[in-house]
Amino acid sequence: MHIVFAASECVPFVKTGGLADVMGALPAEIARLGHQATVYLPYYRQVREKSPEKKPVIASLTIPFTYYNRFVSVLDGGKRDGVQFYFVDCPELFDRESLYATQSGDYLDNWERFGLFSRTVLEASKQLGVPDIFHVHDWQTAMIPVYLRSVYYFDPALRNAGAILTIHNAGYQGWFPPQTTERLLLPWDLFTMDRVEQYDTFNFLKGGMVYSDALTTVSPTYAKEIQTPEFGYGLDSTLRKRAADLHGILNGVDYTKWNPATDHNIAAHYTPDRLEGKSACRKDLLHAFGASHVSAETAVLGIVSRFATQKGFDLIAQIAHRLLNEDVYLVVLGTGEPYYENLFRSLQEQYAAKMSVKIAYDDALAHKVEAGADIFLMPSRYEPCGLNQIYSLKYGTVPVVHATGGLEDTVAEWNGETGEGTGFKFPHYDANEFYAAIERALGLFRSDKKAWTKLMQNGMKQDYSWSEPAKEYAALYEEVARRRS
Ligand code: ADP
Ligand code: GLC
Repeated sequence: MHIVFAASECVPFVKTGGLADVMGALPAEIARLGHQATVYLPYYRQVREKSPEKKPVIASLTIPFTYYNRFVSVLDGGKRDGVQFYFVDCPELFDRESLYATQSGDYLDNWERFGLFSRTVLEASKQLGVPDIFHVHDWQTAMIPVYLRSVYYFDPALRNAGAILTIHNAGYQGWFPPQTTERLLLPWDLFTMDRVEQYDTFNFLKGGMVYSDALTTVSPTYAKEIQTPEFGYGLDSTLRKRAADLHGILNGVDYTKWNPATDHNIAAHYTPDRLEGKSACRKDLLHAFGASHVSAETAVLGIVSRFATQKGFDLIAQIAHRLLNEDVYLVVLGTGEPYYENLFRSLQEQYAAKMSVKIAYDDALAHKVEAGADIFLMPSRYEPCGLNQIYSLKYGTVPVVHATGGLEDTVAEWNGETGEGTGFKFPHYDANEFYAAIERALGLFRSDKKAWTKLMQNGMKQDYSWSEPAKEYAALYEEVARRRS
């Protein structure tokens, strides 16, 4: 089969979050299973800087809008790990400082940027190869199934192609004014409650949910959660209608990049049976955060995250006083919403001796935190899958997590009697519960090194590689392709 993946981020070209990690690994795994895999990405400034002077494979495509046309070229991004990359080049829309937004808010023409990207993928594939399945990701590419089943409905080249939408995060939907319908040259009859309309806005993600042949999301628990009002962000009823076609497939991680036995970003290598290297990583991390004074007995708590409401940092604010009066040291690496950047800055001012914050996006440092911390904190309000806790497990950095979405599915509560479990979880989104879970972790860390080592090893031995999830995706591709043939 031929699968075209269309997404707005992909490692190693451009990344703001876990979607990029998934796109950097899943297509290669699908290729390894013997399928043809193609990835389309916007040729953002960040991609051009990494991959300059790419040759066009399509010199010019005309993408029509209501009162004007845009001209796009498609560049050959080369082949990596058996995957063909194509970059969609339209400098007016993609040669910008950031991907989706600036500090003052989202780019107002995101509807056009990602509408154009989606339509280009369909047009380009007619020349470069129509796949059996378009596998699209999040709202940015959700117009692909919408175009496919409306504007391209009678196009003989595209008619039999299937579309699968993976929802990485239902909290981001792509809401735009109703006129977006005609601006994207879509028929107005799509703008109804059971199609793309949501509270009088044009909703990209909803369109994708309605028009795809199958839907997936990135963990089994999140697949259930998004069918409830609390997690569905207004789309729960749309998802309930599609429950039979909605699959929760847990993400894998790329252990060629995230493995303490081989990671070139960290100070020393270690494995479950030879853990000595971890203390060198801890020293190196503390040095990087200007905290070399921290003693070996002090538990180092780590956070690496986008700063967004989703990630639950208001719970950190609520417990900061209690927590930072204990024998702990907190390292935080993240960027994002100014509110949370300021929150962490002000905590750092108050507790300068107990924590260090870097407001930055720094991949190498993210690896160092995973390797050097003792405990990793992830109190997310909701978490579709979450990759950092899976990385933490591999690095023997015990996760303390809110039992939601993929966090629920990947972390098992430590049981002192059986010696089983991989971390600590709190069931309700509540500061006292979070604090109690951290206390359970600290209690064990301080009192029983042997049990702590066992807990670390349990996590390190977990296998969340892509091989099983890729097979689940491949089976779904086959099923959808059969349905459409
Ligand atoms: P999300 O996609 O919601 O942000 P995930 O846990 O799935 O959450 O993935 C986050 C990814 O982004 C991880 O690979 C993590 O290491 C990375 N990341 C997040 N913030 C930073 C940062 N400030 N610097 C470097 N990497 C980061
Ligand atoms: C989203 C989610 C995160 C998930 C990632 C990759 O950004 O917030 O939980 O791990 O996508 O699927």
